[in-house]
Amino acid sequence: MGSETTEEGDKQRIPLLTPYKMGNFRLSHRIVLAPLTRQRSYNNVPQPHAILYYSQRATKGGFLLAEATGVSDTAQGYANTPGIWTKEQTDAWKPIVEAVHAKGAVFFCQIWHVGRVSNTGFQPNGQSPISSTSKELTPQLRANGVDMARFSPPRRLRTDEIPKIVNDFRIAARNAIEAGFDGVEIHGAHGYLLEQFFKDQANDRTDQYGGSLENRCRFGLEVVEAVSDEIGAGRVGIRLSPFANYMQSGDSNPEALGLYLTEALNKYGILYCHMVEPRMISVGVKSECSESLAPMRKSFKGTFIVAGGYDREDGNKAVAENRADLVAYGRHFLANPDLPKRFELDAPLNKYERETFYTPDPVIGYTDYPFLEETDGYRREVE
Ligand SMILES: Cc1cc2nc3c(=O)[nH]c(=O)nc-3n(C[C@H](O)[C@H](O)[C@H](O)COP(=O)(O)O)c2cc1C
Repeated sequence: MGSETTEEGDKQRIPLLTPYKMGNFRLSHRIVLAPLTRQRSYNNVPQPHAILYYSQRATKGGFLLAEATGVSDTAQGYANTPGIWTKEQTDAWKPIVEAVHAKGAVFFCQIWHVGRVSNTGFQPNGQSPISSTSKELTPQLRANGVDMARFSPPRRLRTDEIPKIVNDFRIAARNAIEAGFDGVEIHGAHGYLLEQFFKDQANDRTDQYGGSLENRCRFGLEVVEAVSDEIGAGRVGIRLSPFANYMQSGDSNPEALGLYLTEALNKYGILYCHMVEPRMISVGVKSECSESLAPMRKSFKGTFIVAGGYDREDGNKAVAENRADLVAYGRHFLANPDLPKRFELDAPLNKYERETFYTPDPVIGYTDYPFLEETDGYRREVE
């Protein structure tokens, strides 16, 4: 047991490579694939090339999050992102989930509604995107740092329409289980619909879904409750980014918001809370900052996952210091299908290529990042 000379002994000295029991799921390590939109699901239908992409990143006892996946025909705001509201989409996920399970990994689907981060071109019958508000977004630089995204003025949801959107999340969760996923992650981060309700910069409602913290969190918590009722709280996680200010969704008191949410989530007993570090000033830009997720980590009773700007060293530190149970890796995992292996061996990493993050090619920048054993003579190093 744990003798210094065995491989197991070596792993035990790497906190990220220690096992962890997340509810009913036995994970063999703590390196999570972060949800990563790749825009290769033509016409919102997951494609066969995703089988290879996800199974390349799957390990026995690993935990993978699928890319943000639309819950309805009003949920989209980007080309070629997958959905899970139709039978065709649900069926198309099945072989992808099967391949991940064949490798022994746990796989959750991130369920998503963009709200006002959309334009009429993505909406059924060219209608306006829906939101908590009718405040329009100004054009924004996309996360690839090159393209500008244009948005149409949103239509503020009437109070009596909100239960229908909550129900869309419920059905999407049911479909995810039908597709074979082990659970769902509710996308409550990055300026999308849930955050448009959570954050006081975006929510200017005067009904029971706006104003006080309790009112602003009501919609998101109704989604959590509906999804938990549908598939069981032990299969439900949520991603939150209280400190972020993407898509003009900042909050005047992010710590109070984060704490209110973690405390409320405890009542539903969901499996995990996945929080984006305050240092992420945009989806792909890290900065120094003095704020921390410690109060939320302390208050949340389930599994706590952190994400945002982690490398091998500070991921290990976060686990060793008990600041997180699991660490999600985005760009490094995108570029290194065998990231857990590389962390185990402290091997060099492939460099990620931003230009191909969101291009529709089924291979390039998607499934062609080399594994360690293929990198002999390969000269990509980390940025
Ligand atoms: C190409 C790309 C796509 C992303 N797509 C999503 C997404 O679908 N859902 C989400 O919650 N976050 C998304 N993010 C954010 C990542 O999950 C992660 O939080 C971010 O990249 C910071 O982590 P990192 O420093 O390990 O890359 C995306 C980021 C990138 C670079």
